[in-house]
Amino acid sequence: MSRDCENTVIVGCGAVSVDFLATVAAFPNPDDKIRSTSFKVQGGGNAGNALTCASRLGLKPRLISKVADDTQGRDILHELQVDGVDTSFMAVSQDGTSPFTYIIVDSQTKSRTCIHTPGFPPMKPDDLPESSLLTALNGSRLVYFDGRLHETALVVAQEAVKKNIPILMDAERLREGLDDLVKLADYVVCASRFPQAWTGASTVPKALVCMLLRLPNIKFVIVTLGKDGCIMLERSANGSHSFTVFLAEGVSTEEMDVDKLLESLEMRKNRSIHIPTCISSSVTKLHAEGIGTVCGRLYIGTAENIPPSELIDTTGAGDAFIGAILYAICANFAREKMLCFAATVAASKCRALGARSGLPYSTDPCLASFMHSLPLN
Ligand SMILES: Nc1ncnc2c1ncn2[C@@H]1O[C@H](COP(=O)(O)OP(=O)(O)O)[C@@H](O)[C@H]1O
Ligand SMILES: *[C@@H]1O[C@H](CO)[C@@H](O)[C@H](O)[C@H]1NC(C)=O
Ligand SMILES: *[C@@H]1O[C@H](CO)[C@@H](O)[C@H](O)[C@H]1NC(C)=O
Repeated sequence: MSRDCENTVIVGCGAVSVDFLATVAAFPNPDDKIRSTSFKVQGGGNAGNALTCASRLGLKPRLISKVADDTQGRDILHELQVDGVDTSFMAVSQDGTSPFTYIIVDSQTKSRTCIHTPGFPPMKPDDLPESSLLTALNGSRLVYFDGRLHETALVVAQEAVKKNIPILMDAERLREGLDDLVKLADYVVCASRFPQAWTGASTVPKALVCMLLRLPNIKFVIVTLGKDGCIMLERSANGSHSFTVFLAEGVSTEEMDVDKLLESLEMRKNRSIHIPTCISSSVTKLHAEGIGTVCGRLYIGTAENIPPSELIDTTGAGDAFIGAILYAICANFAREKMLCFAATVAASKCRALGARSGLPYSTDPCLASFMHSLPLN
């Protein structure tokens, strides 16, 4: 049952920051002077947010990142600790500044515009002594990277590979060092534009096929699409292309065009259902024209349909989604359940200002249907 993963250790390496969030009635023009309608100072950064999410759901996350020994750095660490994230592997520099981000949330368009100032000095592999790295990875079920701090991340990833610890990679955009990391990943969760940007493919489904072909270790790749939910391509467990395997598993030996397959799944969406749902194909040979063929299963995960009055801020929705995926992998959720769960967690996040306020705890009523075996009391 899902509770078996309670206290499961995971490791994350990536960005933390302090977010200064201001909600405005409408996005300002240059030289405008306007007032915020609400304001919040809160911890942020992809890795900080995703691990906070995972911790509230019941995992025991350890974070590898860097702050400076300034007021903001101390606040970042304190807030993570309060949320149960282990910060003992964080580097703290005596000088320099901690990372921070100005975020303007436009309540009209629901957009969130970020101005990020990286911390200084940047994290280097030397900031993480080998003994700390080994202790951090000891007993870890999963390692997650958000693509930042790439030099340190690569060292952590290589050690994780040595220890056979699976890796989940958040591929938000093309970044320095990202290719080396993504090659080591077992699971990839991408932002909407990444698959096509990385592969040059003409459609998202083709790009997902291309990613599985280029990255032979990948078990699944997910692309998140905001209010349009997500698409997942999972490599078939028996990725072998031998005819006998297809017959044995009842897999169609015919190839399906991946774009057409996605269209046929889209037609099965039921717009009168407002909670997250999942639609999947059978295991099929998926063909992407001009790219190639993989054996796998395609899924559509719908987002929750949040009433406009409840949709406050989408900052960190992707991080919430990933935090929930980390949990779902540790809890061995079926793929359909995993996608519905992640969309539910992300939707909860969208109902409050900031990347963390709305992150649900495992006991939250909105998660009851996913957390079957509740603790006895
Ligand atoms: N407006 C929204 N309404 C409902 N769910 C949302 C909304 N925006 C995001 N989500 C949920 O959060 C997930 C990740 O959001 P997305 O915007 O794709 O990520 P990012 O924050 O990385 O840009 C989506 O797949 C969806 O489940
Ligand atoms: C790993 O963790 C176990 C259990 O907590 C402990 O007994 C062991 O000494 C640790 N090993 C290292 C290398 O830290
Ligand atoms: C869509 O879902 C609603 C609510 O569950 C159900 O009543 C309806 O029959 C479904 N429509 C289709 C076309 O499946």
